[in-house]
Amino acid sequence: MSLKHYAVLALFLCLLGIPLRGHAQDRLGFDGDDLVTPDCAAMSDWFECRSINDPSVNASVRRGYEYIHHTTSTLGPDAPRNETNTFEDGTAYANASIACSSCHFTGGHVPFGTPFYQVPDKYASKPYFRPLNYNRDAADSILDCFSNCMNNPRTPPKDDPVIQDMLAYIQWVADGVTDPSMKGAGWPTLPGHGLPVIPGVATMTANPAAGATIYANECAGCHSDDGPGQGEYRSDESRPRVPALWGVNSYTRGAAFYNNQNLGAFVRQFMPYGDPLTLSNQQALDVAAFINQQGHPDGLADQMFCHIEADNIPASLRKPAAANVGCTYPGEPFNSTQIMNGPWAPITAWRNAEIARLLNGMRGVNPGINLLLNDN
Ligand code: HEC
Ligand code: HEC
Repeated sequence: MSLKHYAVLALFLCLLGIPLRGHAQDRLGFDGDDLVTPDCAAMSDWFECRSINDPSVNASVRRGYEYIHHTTSTLGPDAPRNETNTFEDGTAYANASIACSSCHFTGGHVPFGTPFYQVPDKYASKPYFRPLNYNRDAADSILDCFSNCMNNPRTPPKDDPVIQDMLAYIQWVADGVTDPSMKGAGWPTLPGHGLPVIPGVATMTANPAAGATIYANECAGCHSDDGPGQGEYRSDESRPRVPALWGVNSYTRGAAFYNNQNLGAFVRQFMPYGDPLTLSNQQALDVAAFINQQGHPDGLADQMFCHIEADNIPASLRKPAAANVGCTYPGEPFNSTQIMNGPWAPITAWRNAEIARLLNGMRGVNPGINLLLNDN
């Protein structure tokens, strides 16, 4: 059906009072249009799906859910303005073409779909965040996503009620974990808590020109034809129908998706919507390269990996091989095309050799150094 026919049909159905896309609810009570939902039956050994609409769910958790799932209508520029969602100068907390749950599928319930069930235990120990050289807690990781995943130039303070409600919601998701061995220090055994990985990706090469054709055939029908797919702002809906993949309101160069290995694996796992795992690994990598070649905002990208680590090694040597952000180690023989599109194994090998050389030169000066090598 062409867009024009779609519009005529939509108008006709609207006149009859029938919405073209119903706001159907999934079993967790998440309303929306098309959602990537968890397979609750398959997860039932270790996770209990509970409805957000259950009367036992407290008000803070519900507000957190609204901010994370209906980001546009609660924190976006057209949300009714109030002191909870607006900076003193009148700017909205969030851009509009993407919701947190556009990537954190069904509000962080989907294995490999950037879930939230691991977050409280993972961040309890304030793990080191190498790109920005600090130890962060769960609130910090939310703020980093505000900046890097959604291109919001300003972020609310950590004790802001919006952030506190988001944390309450994230804790509620984590409370769904039923297997005691996966709680606390056992969080790394939670299925799908990290991004998926394409097997053997380090020796592959992404081809953005081939990706352009795949994008046109497999993705554009939703992501481009539907305006917000390119970052255009749609003001009349509670969350983007199809989220932005590039443009001013999309994820920035500082985001985990601005790394073709990460985006390719995520795309293969979940897209095209409704038809996951149908692209080959190569096709997924190619389409990711095409998307990341389009315009992406800077976010915090240029500040990343610019420090010297505690063992005197420059962080630029420990960047993921596919991260084309932040500082570059002097004399490195790789251009940004190879860093974006691979092959990545030679980059990792060169950097590891340089780390080893530096550490060797420092031997005796700083004994007991823990040599952390990139695995991608
Ligand atoms: C049938 C419509 C449809 C098609 C086709 C489609 N998508 Fe999506 N895409 C969606 C929807 C809807 C979401 C958000 C799902 C949700 O909110 O749970 C999404 C989310 C995404 C996301 C995560 C959100 C973001 O903005 O980063 C990425 C990445 C993505 N799609 C890439 C692709 C790629 C690449 C293709 C082609 C291989 C593709 N999509 C094909 C509908 C589609
Ligand atoms: C464009 C996609 C995208 C959007 C939009 C987005 N995120 Fe993220 N977020 C990610 C990715 C990718 C990661 C890294 C996941 C990983 O490395 O395993 C992440 C990480 C996080 C983490 C840390 C998870 C962990 O286990 O380390 C939190 C918390 C988080 N995001 C919250 C949010 C919130 C709240 C919003 C909305 C204000 C948001 N994100 C918007 C993609 C997104």
